[in-house]
Amino acid sequence: MTSTPPNRPGLQSRILITGASSGIGEALALHYARAGTHLILWGRNQTRLDQVAAQAARHGATTETLALDLCDPEAALQALRSADDNTPVDILILAAGLGDIRPEGELTELPEQVKTISLVNFTTPVTLATEMARRMITRGGGNIALIGSVAAFHDLPIATAYSGSKAGLARFSTALHAAMTPHNVHITLVSPGYVDTPMSQRLEGARPFLVSSRKAARLIARAIGQGRAHLMFPWPFALARLLEMLVPRPIAHRLLRSAEVRQSASN
Ligand SMILES: NC(=O)c1ccc[n+]([C@@H]2O[C@H](COP(=O)([O-])OP(=O)(O)OC[C@H]3O[C@@H](n4cnc5c(N)ncnc54)[C@H](OP(=O)(O)O)[C@@H]3O)[C@@H](O)[C@H]2O)c1
Repeated sequence: MTSTPPNRPGLQSRILITGASSGIGEALALHYARAGTHLILWGRNQTRLDQVAAQAARHGATTETLALDLCDPEAALQALRSADDNTPVDILILAAGLGDIRPEGELTELPEQVKTISLVNFTTPVTLATEMARRMITRGGGNIALIGSVAAFHDLPIATAYSGSKAGLARFSTALHAAMTPHNVHITLVSPGYVDTPMSQRLEGARPFLVSSRKAARLIARAIGQGRAHLMFPWPFALARLLEMLVPRPIAHRLLRSAEVRQSASN
């Protein structure tokens, strides 16, 4: 864990980002980095966190980093409480996530893989969002963003845990939005299509309508600023969601089963 002290005059916003060591979380950290912003950056890879923090500091932000594994929701909850006690958070962005598909030659995903994906993509983020919502209510408001995926809206035979965990996260997020609106706590679900990050770079084959991580960060920050309940981008995926709802499920499943998806080994 490294930190530069946040107690400088003129501090305007305090933002905690999980998954800040890579991809969308990193791009969000750099998007928000400016004088007056304190960034609390979480990830697993301390070296990469330090690099992101150094870049953010060059743009004038103060930073602190924490390397921790979100497979342990209890440890993550304690870390969130401690971070928020030190520096009350205005914006919480739960970007960390794990994408994985059925290993080649297997008929299902592996139970250990499904457990890990469920913890990182669902159990830990909903635990952290709930704790933060409670704290923000007592402070009179705040913003929480949960990074889901368009995969939430499709039955992906090759990524049952990924699509299932993101579907759970999506319903949790919009339900929490409904519960928190009267308390001035704004919950934003973000459902990206393909974003050019190490996660999607592992996929072999086409990544249609690919968006850069910089553009994704801009869109996400704008939706958070507007307190929007749901941002899905790019738009063709919203169309795909509608189309799939119109197609009878057995036909949709046959089409989804025929999709060829492969990925390279973890980075
Ligand atoms: N890229 C896409 O096309 C795409 C599309 C839809 C949704 N999303 C979602 O967007 C979010 C960000 O993904 P990305 O594309 O930016 O992927 P990425 O570049 O692989 O970054 C994933 C981030 O999550 C962190 N993370 C993963 N497992 C963790 C764990 N067990 N404990 C703590 N941190 C963990 C990683 O930390 P370390 O690297 O330090 O381990 C990293 O910072 C994810 O929720 C993903 O599902 C991405």
